Amino acid sequence: MKRIGVLTSGGDAPGMNAAIRAVVRTALDMDMSVVGFKRGYNGMLMRSPDQRDDFEILTASSVSNRIHRGGTFLMTARCLDFLNVENQKQAIRNLKTIGVEGLVCIGGDGTYKGAEALNKLGFPTVGVPGTIDNDLAYTDYTIGFDTALNTACECINRIRETSDSHERASLITVMGRNCGDIALHTALSCGAELYMVPEIPWSIEEVAERVKWGVMRGKRSMILVFAEGAMSSLTTNLPELCAQHPQLSDIDVDEIDSHQIARIIQVLSGHETRSTVLGYLQRGGSPSAKDRILGTQLGAHAVELLHKDVSGVAVGVRGMNVIEVPFADVQKGPHAADCGIAELVDVMAVMTRA
Ligand code: F6P
Repeated sequence: MKRIGVLTSGGDAPGMNAAIRAVVRTALDMDMSVVGFKRGYNGMLMRSPDQRDDFEILTASSVSNRIHRGGTFLMTARCLDFLNVENQKQAIRNLKTIGVEGLVCIGGDGTYKGAEALNKLGFPTVGVPGTIDNDLAYTDYTIGFDTALNTACECINRIRETSDSHERASLITVMGRNCGDIALHTALSCGAELYMVPEIPWSIEEVAERVKWGVMRGKRSMILVFAEGAMSSLTTNLPELCAQHPQLSDIDVDEIDSHQIARIIQVLSGHETRSTVLGYLQRGGSPSAKDRILGTQLGAHAVELLHKDVSGVAVGVRGMNVIEVPFADVQKGPHAADCGIAELVDVMAVMTRA
């Protein structure tokens, strides 16, 4: 290959810039040039009036002074048009017109779907896992997860201080889509009392009971980490529960969110419970050293594979090893919920009956 392309797609993640930098500098070292596509797959559709809005040739200096920056300088987007096979074929024609022979796609599950589709149409692609969610089972870590975790942990340290002064419980919502990895790792690293994640069934009554036990044990504050996808594993019959408590009669069970979950816990436990949603704070910020290293290792490995004519795979890390698996296998492997993290949070929190 003489020229490859690179793009970032889906939600941004700290460390994506390190991965782009590694793609560019590894490719140049192998005498390949690199085109950076903007706004994910949109750039390859080349619909902008000015082509500089869609792609640019990346040189060694294009990626200078980027490794420590969060976000992605190529910008990102979720491109629904790319689900259409005619648009995928058009993108391949566009790539060929500018001499691009292979593509590195940095992102999560949705990004991999696009990369896999291109590969099936005969265009070589390699995926690099860039998402804070850590929801790709084949790799121990995705780029951005460590930074998001550190950010969540730091925010919760601050919340714990004010919760402790006021003797409150705090329910803190973290990102992760349908995956509880951010929540479970955050809970373990910030010494949380409880967690609610999509992979493990939970009931509000049980959470409220345990908050009561915590108060009885003399805990001044409690941290309850709530994964944004946790409603999917709630076992409580909400309409029935709300009907039993006049203070909850205004809750619309079809529109329930984590603020209302906190309110219900407060009513059932009798202990003041405040709610905070960390939101996009978790996606921004300078990448941790771990994410910069992972981004660099995986970006470089993706290019080495394309150079050896290996494609249709996603790169990742297992233990100390950089690995690659076919796109079809990216959801094969353990999640944090299977790895004893939840049990460890329980033991550390000492939230058993007093
Ligand atoms: O996939 C990363 C992520 O931050 C998820 O944790 C979250 O559910 C989603 O993206 C938010 O997406 P958007 O940027 O479209 O609001």
